[in-house]
Amino acid sequence: MFLTTEQLQSYEENGLLFLPEYFSRAEVEIMKREATSLLRREAVNRVVEKSGELVRSVYGAHMNNDLFKQLSKHARTVEPAMQVLGSKTYVYQSKINAKAAFGGDIWEWHQDYIFWHKEDGMPTARVTNFIIFLDDVNEFNGPLYFIPGSHHEGMIDITSDNESLALKLNQHKPYQGSPAWLGNLTANLKYALNREIIGELVRKYGIVSPKGTAGAVLLTHANIVHGSPSNISPFDRMVAIITFNSIENLPRAVANPRPEFLASRDYTPITPLANKPLFEYA
Ligand code: SIN
Ligand code: MN
Repeated sequence: MFLTTEQLQSYEENGLLFLPEYFSRAEVEIMKREATSLLRREAVNRVVEKSGELVRSVYGAHMNNDLFKQLSKHARTVEPAMQVLGSKTYVYQSKINAKAAFGGDIWEWHQDYIFWHKEDGMPTARVTNFIIFLDDVNEFNGPLYFIPGSHHEGMIDITSDNESLALKLNQHKPYQGSPAWLGNLTANLKYALNREIIGELVRKYGIVSPKGTAGAVLLTHANIVHGSPSNISPFDRMVAIITFNSIENLPRAVANPRPEFLASRDYTPITPLANKPLFEYA
């Protein structure tokens, strides 16, 4: 067992679990090196910040990079996900968020599940994020903020104003003429929660912001409300996020399926790889 009963209880209660120093320095170095090379490569699954100068995210590294493929099947990644989901699992999505020094942009307050439900037909929130810090995360470099316990509210159903979102995106040169799915990936999120809702939830539950050295891991529930501020510090804040869905929660067919790198349709249950250091797989 990777997670203790107390850790599982804490995840259930708070909607998140912080695991400091989960991967070694050597392992993180390899991940960071691979991630950095992926960020440099221009591709359809790469999203830039609205200024056009910095890379914001790269999606689907588990499909096209050997190390991230191994990482997404590694026992230390998959077993805790299986424990919190209570079933076998497959990778639904993965992304590397760069949040670069002097310009990494915000993530508006949101819940993840509403995107996966409305855009991809995911039936329930039985899905979890495995977030790996690839840099030290401190109070200066745009750490993630969470409203602990907010997943108990379930999916907060908001309708998106597609027209005003398209207008907002079009104001920024790099996003002009982009496909509709880009509205799920930029600093203007399609299902961002409004100030009234956030004010109410924070009064009820508070805010937490786990910080730690590179190699720390955060497991987060798909309905926990979260966001992150911009990074004006001189420190990068890169994270890798692997989203594991339960094989008992397969998405239903939808009219306009998003690209495979945003919503995988390979539902093969993962058999976890042996728990060897990652550099042995690299
Ligand atoms: C997310 O909401 O999925 C990521 C936010 C961040 O990287 O700060
Ligand atoms: Mn999110």
